[in-house]
Amino acid sequence: MKILVINGPNLNMLGNREPAIYGATTLEEIESSLRRKALSIGVEVDFYQSNIEGELIERIQKAPAQGFRAFVINPGGYTHTSVALRDALIAVELPFIEVHLSKVSAREPFRQINLFSDIAAGSISGFGPLGYILALEAVWGLYGKKA
Ligand code: DQA
Repeated sequence: MKILVINGPNLNMLGNREPAIYGATTLEEIESSLRRKALSIGVEVDFYQSNIEGELIERIQKAPAQGFRAFVINPGGYTHTSVALRDALIAVELPFIEVHLSKVSAREPFRQINLFSDIAAGSISGFGPLGYILALEAVWGLYGKKA
């Protein structure tokens, strides 16, 4: 089973970016730990990060033809704004788990608008980098046996 892990804007800056909120772990470190986890459960993972909404949409659109069966996605700030990214996920009809490093429900009012939670298979928020590992396990648990 092939799973694509997508990270949106500013997540390439993890490690340096507001460490009190997002922690000291870099995106590279998160991806390495996901690679190890994927090996141990026997799934294939690939990764994509972009700061550009259109690039994220194009990556999502290509995924089904490349054999991906699900996404783990942290849409970053687009979580609260991007109808277009939401539409792309609906259009490709692949299930996805939404991840946020921070506990978004305890943050600013503008972050309480979420355009992804209602269409996600599930959402994981507030567990830092562990959230991505939990999401990978969830994808495997939910869809792995069918692939
Ligand atoms: C985030 C939460 C978003 O509100 C924020 O814009 C991010 C990161 C998180 O992982 O906690 O960029 O998605």
